[in-house]
Amino acid sequence: MKDLSLYIHIPFCKSKCNYCDFLSFDNEDKKIENYINALNNEIKNYSELTKGYQIKSIFIGGGTPSILSCNQLSSILLAIKKYYDIDKNAEITIEANPGTLTLEKIETILRYNVNRVSVGLQSCNNIALKKLGRIHTLEEFLLSYELLRNTGVKNINIDLMFALPNQTIKELESDLNNIIKLNPEHISCYGLIIEEGTLFNKLYNDNKLFLPNEEIERDMYWLVHNILEENYYKHYEISNFAKKGKECYHNTVYWKEFEYIGIGLGASSYFNGYRYKNISDINNYIQLNGEINLLKEDIQKIDKLTSIEEYMFLGLRLLDGINKQEFNDRWGEEVDLYYKEVIKELTQKKLLYEDAYRVKLTEKGIDISNVVLSNFLLDKS
Ligand SMILES: C[S@@+](CC[C@H](N)C(=O)[O-])C[C@H]1O[C@@H](n2cnc3c(N)ncnc32)[C@H](O)[C@@H]1O
Ligand code: SF4
Repeated sequence: MKDLSLYIHIPFCKSKCNYCDFLSFDNEDKKIENYINALNNEIKNYSELTKGYQIKSIFIGGGTPSILSCNQLSSILLAIKKYYDIDKNAEITIEANPGTLTLEKIETILRYNVNRVSVGLQSCNNIALKKLGRIHTLEEFLLSYELLRNTGVKNINIDLMFALPNQTIKELESDLNNIIKLNPEHISCYGLIIEEGTLFNKLYNDNKLFLPNEEIERDMYWLVHNILEENYYKHYEISNFAKKGKECYHNTVYWKEFEYIGIGLGASSYFNGYRYKNISDINNYIQLNGEINLLKEDIQKIDKLTSIEEYMFLGLRLLDGINKQEFNDRWGEEVDLYYKEVIKELTQKKLLYEDAYRVKLTEKGIDISNVVLSNFLLDKS
């Protein structure tokens, strides 16, 4: 049996947040039913190609999966259960937005063995939440969190953002302390990125958005690291922190370059040696009704050198870095054969740390991780 993970995309939101460029719509509710029919067909059709695989993790993300009704959630979870061999210990996560969760929805997902919920809080400050375009207040988030706990959800992630417009270090510190008090198992923490095509991008270009400068943004990042580490959250990936043993397996699949299938609009896959994504036009998606080969685009065969590159720049996002023995086991060659000089140079610049077992980013390396990681591209000519 080979290991496989599934990502299921739900591209609907109650309203679009001002910073978000994820593939999601706030004005297509009439298409939800047809979308789910097409999605369930795609789920079914993929099962033909995944014989001999066992599902180790499932991530239902978006968008806002918790916007769906109990019946809609059940139909997706039922299709997955019916057509796949799911490991009894599989990690099954669903993303949820405060204000869209009900007792019935939580009971529904628990019935289908969903065992992890990722809730987007983003900020504990109601004025900031409003500016971000979030649909909820802190108080509504707290109600959703309590409902999840009281209904028996034992593994919760909270998404937090920092470097928000006008945010001070003190405000961020208070956000972190508030979240720690809730004792979630996992915290994802992202510095705000101004994405093209968003309202924030327009405001930024018009000089109407006052963001912390780069130095403060980095100070904020290390404040997050220090406070969460002091409170027993291990910083295990550039943006992710977890209590012992609660690291997100599904995300680790991406960083360790394991196989996964993305089902739904615009979802990406890495399967059978190919990377590809699904089309992102919702009308076409519905019309193609789960026909896998017609949905695929940007198909790229991942040859050995590309795979090695990906392994390095995805793996180095993990704070433990890449394990030299694991590299050897995977390709039967030493990492030095490809990267001796690069590792030596970056180690001398104190951007990487190397010992007999592994190579990892230093704190200085994390601060400019994009630049460091770009050094791992191989010359394939
Ligand atoms: C798939 S998204 C959305 C999940 C869910 N719909 C929500 O909003 O709570 C996952 C996370 O990415 C982060 N995110 C989205 N856009 C971002 C941006 N422009 N800059 C930084 N983080 C962002 C947010 O923390 C968000 O919760
Ligand atoms: S951040 Fe989440 S809720 Fe907001 S628009 Fe993006 S996907 Fe939807």
